Amino acid sequence: MRNTLRLIAVALLLSLPFAVSAQPANPYELPDPLRMEDGRIVRTKRQWIKERRPELMEMLRSQMFGREPGQAPDLHFTVLEESPDAFGGLATRKQVKVSFDKDENYYLILLMYVPNDRKGPVPAFLGANFKGNHATTTDPAVLMPTPEKLATYAPGYVVEDRNTNGHRWEYEYILKHGYAVATFCYNDVDPDFHDGFHNGVHQLMDGDKPRNGESWATISAWAWGLSRCLDFLEAQKEIDARKVAVIGHSRLGKTSLWAGATDQRFALVISNDSGCSGAAIARRKFGETLDVINKNFPHWFCTNYTAYNGREEKMPWDQHELIAMIAPRPVYVASASEDSWADPVGEYFSLVGAASVYNLFGYEGITDRTVPEIEHPVVVGRMGHHIRRGEHNVRLYDWQQYVSFADRFLK
Ligand code: GCU
Repeated sequence: MRNTLRLIAVALLLSLPFAVSAQPANPYELPDPLRMEDGRIVRTKRQWIKERRPELMEMLRSQMFGREPGQAPDLHFTVLEESPDAFGGLATRKQVKVSFDKDENYYLILLMYVPNDRKGPVPAFLGANFKGNHATTTDPAVLMPTPEKLATYAPGYVVEDRNTNGHRWEYEYILKHGYAVATFCYNDVDPDFHDGFHNGVHQLMDGDKPRNGESWATISAWAWGLSRCLDFLEAQKEIDARKVAVIGHSRLGKTSLWAGATDQRFALVISNDSGCSGAAIARRKFGETLDVINKNFPHWFCTNYTAYNGREEKMPWDQHELIAMIAPRPVYVASASEDSWADPVGEYFSLVGAASVYNLFGYEGITDRTVPEIEHPVVVGRMGHHIRRGEHNVRLYDWQQYVSFADRFLK
């Protein structure tokens, strides 16, 4: 009998449509994004733009991501390869060296596909990748990372085979829907390991300048790299640079949110499974927490951020305010049902928490406090959300939602 009851309980649990929302989290109260630090309430767009947004940006810069530098000393672009024959003639491929300094000691390699079937400039998706451009596709013409570049990556870095991450980059689907798509390996901008900020663009931009608690770190460097790629896209006549969506998965989803916050030229922002320090509400302390992320990845955020380890309720902001930095531009937050480490419920609630800022601009936002069912995408005003069934990843299902969301705003 006891066993039968246990079985019924397990069966019920497994069949719960919103199993992700049934998990307990720390009780919490979120800061009101429309309340200034001095207690005044923001009532107008102007007050948001002139006062509250800068106040929050200052908080996020000084306490979390660090202060990103300005333009690179000598940004210039060299086309390494170009061909109209990609994917059987569906797209033109361009591979470009985006150099940050005159001597080209610091650069990334951008891979871009532009649909050949176009009448004028097209909108685009831009995002960094984890394993190299060659790992995002079967396209045999995509350049492998050079030994010179590889020497700067983490010690023992293993070069992936072609296409190992192809499922995350549904190029043909994206191109057929009329979008260009561009990507680069995040290690090109700042290798993803902690070496005291001697490598990557920190060295170029900071030299021997002493670091402090607010110095920019690796996530802000990746976001800075995304902005340099947007500079390149602005110079391409086949791209409509006023219609570029910035996208990222996981640590790169944290990055796309920060890129969208710091660079308002990005027209639309997508966070795929960004989790802790991305879209997930920190005060819930569910899945990954600040203590854990700062310990495991000490190079991602500025060192002031560690002051909130285990003290999330003391943060003067929470992650819904990072989402609010994107307002009034469209924002999409996606989760995966098995990705409890990234706290899908907390990711959803950061949209709900930012809705009042979208309302201020005259747009509706997601306000329903019931977490949507798995694979029931929700779009309200300029906010979008879904929970894909399955693991921490990017899949065709995710791209289908992103493309249809982008179709509303970028076409
Ligand atoms: C780890 C980390 C997460 C991160 C993820 C990823 O799981 O704890 O914060 O999002 O890696 O980038 O894949």
